[in-house]
Amino acid sequence: MRRALVGAVVLGLAAAGCEQDETQPNFEYAPDMVSSVPYDSFAPNPNTPDGKTLLGPAKGTVPRGHLPLHLAAGPEEAARAGRELKNPYPSSPEVLARGETAFQRYCSPCHGAGGLGDGLVTARFPMPPSLLGARAKALPDGQVFHIITHGQGLMPAHGSQVAPEDRWKVVHYLRTLQDPARTARKDVP
Ligand code: HEC
Repeated sequence: MRRALVGAVVLGLAAAGCEQDETQPNFEYAPDMVSSVPYDSFAPNPNTPDGKTLLGPAKGTVPRGHLPLHLAAGPEEAARAGRELKNPYPSSPEVLARGETAFQRYCSPCHGAGGLGDGLVTARFPMPPSLLGARAKALPDGQVFHIITHGQGLMPAHGSQVAPEDRWKVVHYLRTLQDPARTARKDVP
């Protein structure tokens, strides 16, 4: 008798379950798992100093692999770069190959494939100077790096397009354009 009663109750409950209005959300057993209790990453947060949940990096931190360049644009800063910066990459066939790729990609449209200042744009753009001239040859490596980074006069800045290590490799490649004997010499730093 008791069994029959329990069976009837279970059946009744099951039937009631089927009658549920499907347009309404189900009963939530553990609402904490649905709506998170902690602050969301981008939500405002009254407990942090800057009112944001996602804290920014501490002041002065530098991302790995990124060297900050404390040089502004302009000729004085370019000259300072020439005095203070040294090419951190020793020349090697791989470095020169990469420098050549970057040079042909980013510099040759104006300066020409051989650096003579006869790139394709010269039909419409004022002729860039030859990079094989006495002035460009005498520019220290750091100054060329600065010119690529920040531009000079009519030349636009290329810092956002050419990665820092590629800029140094372009400098190595440029030296071989200026003095082809350098490619063959092993004593060149
Ligand atoms: C949009 C054209 C253009 C591109 C691209 C360009 N340059 Fe220039 N570059 C110029 C012009 C124009 C000048 C002369 C700037 C001035 O002094 O008015 C110049 C000047 C220079 C100078 C100084 C030469 C001197 O005698 O003062 C160097 C070095 C140089 N460029 C290297 C590069 C390198 C390396 C790249 C590639 C990463 C590059 N340029 C890309 C147009 C360009």
